[in-house]
Amino acid sequence: AVRASPLLDLAEQRVLITAGPTTTAIDAVRYITNHSTGRMGAAMAEEALRRGAAVDYVLGIDKGVVHPLPPRGSEGRFTLVEVRTAEEMAAAALQRLPGATGVVATAAVMDYSVAAPSAGKLKRASDAIALDLVPSTDVLGSLRQAATGQWFLGFAAETDNVEEHGLGKLKAKGLDFLFANAVSKLGAEGQTGFAVGTNAGVLLTSGGARHELALGPKTEIARQIWDLIA
Ligand code: CTP
Ligand code: CA
Repeated sequence: AVRASPLLDLAEQRVLITAGPTTTAIDAVRYITNHSTGRMGAAMAEEALRRGAAVDYVLGIDKGVVHPLPPRGSEGRFTLVEVRTAEEMAAAALQRLPGATGVVATAAVMDYSVAAPSAGKLKRASDAIALDLVPSTDVLGSLRQAATGQWFLGFAAETDNVEEHGLGKLKAKGLDFLFANAVSKLGAEGQTGFAVGTNAGVLLTSGGARHELALGPKTEIARQIWDLIA
C-alpha cells in the first residue's frame, strides 16, 4: 500500500518545550512538588518531531515522569535537558531560547521555593514547624522578557472559571496562544488534568479566537493544538 507522505509543516520550527513538574527541596531527603507527570509536554514534543520540527526539551524530573519517545525519522532533532528546580528550568530554557522559533510551556512550575533548604536531614520533633516559602522564578515570564520574535504557547490547568482565568493569563503573560483545561479528580482516566492520558479544553489566541477541543488522548489533543497553531 502507498503510505501518505508525512505532514512536515513544522520543518522550519525549532521549538523549546518546558515540561513536567519542578521540585523544591526541604532538606537532604525531602521535597515539595505537584502532580504533573509531563504527559502533555511529551505529546506536544512527539507530534512536533513527527511534523519535522527540532525540539529542545527541558524536563523537570521526578518519580513517574514520562519522557517523550522521539518518533522514527526524528533522530538528531531532539535534545533533552533534565532539571529539578524552577530556577534550573529557567536557566536551561533561557540558554536555549536564542535558537528557538517558538516556546511551548507545559511545565507545572512550583510557584514557591523553600527559602532555606536544610543541608542535612531534619529530625522529627514534637513541635509544629513552619516552612518559609518564597516565590520562584516565572520560567515563561523570563522567556517572554528575553524573546526575540519567538511565538509563545502557554498552558493553564484550572479548577474553576477555566476560560476566564485562561484569558487572563494569555493577556497578562503576553502569549500568542494558551490552552486552558479543567483539573478533575486526580488520576481518574477519561478525565482532564494531571496524571491522566486524556485531556479536553479550549485553545485561546491573542487574536481573540477560541477553539474547544473535546475529550481525547493527550496525543490527539497535541495533534489538534499543532493543527491550530501551525
Ligand atoms: N509558568 C512558568 N513558570 C512559573 C509559573 C508558570 O513557566 N513559575 C508557565 C506554565 O508553564 C504555564 C503558564 O505559565 O504555561 C501558566 O501557568 P500557571 O501556573 O497556570 O500560571 P500562574 O501565573 O502561576 O498562575 P496560578 O496562580 O494560577 O498558578
Ligand atoms: Ca502556577
